[in-house]
Amino acid sequence: MRAIVVAGAAAAAAGAVALAPRARGATWEEWFTRVADSWAGVPSGPLGWVSSHWVMPRLHGPIYPLMAEALDLRSEDELLEVACGSGVFLAHHAAHVGHVAGLDLSDLQIDLARRRLAERIASGTAEIVKGDAAELPWERERFSAVTCMGSMEAFPEPSRALAEMFRVLRPGGRAVLAMGWRVPEGTETRHGLMWVWNEADARGLVEDAGFVDVSVTYDDVRGEWTGPVGLLHRLTTLEGMRIVRGTRPG
Ligand SMILES: C[S@@+](CC[C@H](N)C(=O)[O-])C[C@H]1O[C@@H](n2cnc3c(N)ncnc32)[C@H](O)[C@@H]1O
Repeated sequence: MRAIVVAGAAAAAAGAVALAPRARGATWEEWFTRVADSWAGVPSGPLGWVSSHWVMPRLHGPIYPLMAEALDLRSEDELLEVACGSGVFLAHHAAHVGHVAGLDLSDLQIDLARRRLAERIASGTAEIVKGDAAELPWERERFSAVTCMGSMEAFPEPSRALAEMFRVLRPGGRAVLAMGWRVPEGTETRHGLMWVWNEADARGLVEDAGFVDVSVTYDDVRGEWTGPVGLLHRLTTLEGMRIVRGTRPG
């Protein structure tokens, strides 16, 4: 009973916060874009707090092991995760990697990631940097592996982010990218609130950035979800997460 009252109060509070801009005269479209952006685009404010602390790490939890397997990380790797969110992947799936770096645009996410990786940061084997995927603050050929998951769909210019990932990878380095989901054949690539790429266009983007040996695979995301987030998962499509791999030529 107590849980229902707390959940109801939290939902009412979140609803009030979310609707506040409407009361200040925003159009429905502006309102929706703002809510979506603060929730998941670049988490900020109270909605972003709930999403970054609680929902996103759970929602993406089942994606991380699939990406770790695809990356095949080794202790000698130097890994960059672009749009690293709250750092769960780096902390739990790259703990054995010699050096890890994460970059994200959200203050909330950066703060969480820094706390999660505090020990590694203190020992000099991890860094978490606030910045834009379109302008990475590292010198060329810095990393042996680069990844980005659940985020590229929301980048305004994914080709710029890919060019930057290519630049900071050393020759022979690998990129492993979660780039949306399988779509029916004949689907046109489109950009609304998020990018939806067909397979040929996703592959083309990565090849155009200079990567070679580009391959595209699909994985069904199956987690052990429980509670409201589990319910949310069951209501969304989780079959066919697209993983694109590429190598920077040596
Ligand atoms: C849906 S979350 C995914 C986070 C993380 N990859 C994960 O799987 O948990 C998307 C992340 O992309 C970040 N982001 C969005 N646009 C960005 C940009 N231009 N540069 C860097 N990070 C960005 C957001 O702040 C957010 O943390």
